[in-house]
Amino acid sequence: MNVIIFGVGYVGLVTSACLAQVGNRVTCVDIDATRIDDLRNGRCPIFEPGLPELLREGTQTGRLQFTTDSAIALEKAELVMIAVGTPPDEDGSADVRHVLAVARTLGRQLRHSVTVAVKSTVPVGSCDRVAAVIREELDKRGANFPVEVASNPEFLKEGAALKDFNKPDRIVVGSDSPQAQRQFRTLYAPFNRNRDRLMFMSVRSAELTKYAANALLATRISFINEIANIAEHMGADIEEVRQGIGSDPRIGHHFIYPGCGYGGSCFPKDVRALAAAARNGGYRAGLLAEVENVNQRQKRTMFHKLAELFGGDLRGRTIAIWGLAFKPETDDMREAPSRELMEQLWRAGARVRAYDPVAMAQCRRIYGERESLVLCDSAEEAADGADALAICTEWRCFWAPDFAELKQCLRRPLIVDGRNLFQPDYMRDQGFSYHGIGRGE
Ligand code: UGA
Repeated sequence: MNVIIFGVGYVGLVTSACLAQVGNRVTCVDIDATRIDDLRNGRCPIFEPGLPELLREGTQTGRLQFTTDSAIALEKAELVMIAVGTPPDEDGSADVRHVLAVARTLGRQLRHSVTVAVKSTVPVGSCDRVAAVIREELDKRGANFPVEVASNPEFLKEGAALKDFNKPDRIVVGSDSPQAQRQFRTLYAPFNRNRDRLMFMSVRSAELTKYAANALLATRISFINEIANIAEHMGADIEEVRQGIGSDPRIGHHFIYPGCGYGGSCFPKDVRALAAAARNGGYRAGLLAEVENVNQRQKRTMFHKLAELFGGDLRGRTIAIWGLAFKPETDDMREAPSRELMEQLWRAGARVRAYDPVAMAQCRRIYGERESLVLCDSAEEAADGADALAICTEWRCFWAPDFAELKQCLRRPLIVDGRNLFQPDYMRDQGFSYHGIGRGE
């Protein structure tokens, strides 16, 4: 199939590379000429395991192309995907300006009937707005061929995006057009072989499914963090409680890991956007607001623990931080708990020595050179001479450090662990003052 994808961000690149790998001809269009140039020259603008190799393969076979010229790309298009960003506006709602701009371009440039799939995360009703904008532009020039607009949200996890695309749990398509449904069945057949994962539903249901999935996952995290805080106050251990509740199959073990709060480009933004959309539609989504509040508070937990351990005065202290990315296997620091911690530490007059296996360049871009931040080449170097260690991301390389060496490096054997990586009694035996999340101290 000949597929055109608008937007070479995370979703657009993963989708195009995977579709090209199975034989489709895919053209990626973006208005950012530098990014397009980089991609043409084999430079992948994002960190995602396996993606640079797959993009290279696509370019070498000629099945994957990059351009800023949408008119030429659209000449042979059978299916158009919109995967541009939907950043939050002032009240937290998703801003669909870029999506509608692509719709206008399509209305102006299309010369034949196509199916348009909206992959960007957009508020319910946006696909109807996309269809209306395309129709308006087609009508202006008297073009009367039909353009079908479907919702086709993605459920990719950063760090596991290629696997998620190639082996999806479900493929949600919101469209009631039999012809569009046939096209999606063909497009996704290579990823849908052993069991039918395609789910057709109404456009609005598909749009809401995306938000509901992320909101439920975020709710689970805020819920377990709330229970962790209760456990801490009552002398219970959340890690025991987590396993106790997770073994009920109705609850399950996934996504109930307590921690220093959820981050990333999706959960925080989507929970707020869904609450804002509900509010604008006249419904107060109280639960969602509280999920967000609990998360905001949770992101400040590590700082409060540290402040308490230093008698409320962190001035002149140096804190080592392991892990800057919002989760392992990514360099993404958007809404990462590490940022809240670092910024609070700086406000309190402390210094930070930080290490992350891949997010160092990202961190440098965000915070630049500053006296209060030393970016180190290894976990050990970060800990060297620090008054305490704070763990923000559960990278695998942090799971089994040489504790004797670590104790020697640190000025005080003090660890605040935002991911509960270690056993409290073992740490005590090793001579550490160890403080996890919800571990009943
Ligand atoms: C999330 C969803 O998991 C994907 O299904 C969805 O497609 C994607 O958003 C999106 O909307 O594009 P992602 O943001 O990559 O994917 O990250 P997750 O792996 O879901 O983790 C989100 C945050 O929750 C991380 O900060 C992580 O540390 C935290 N988390 C996760 C917990 O604190 N506890 C858990 O048990 C699980």
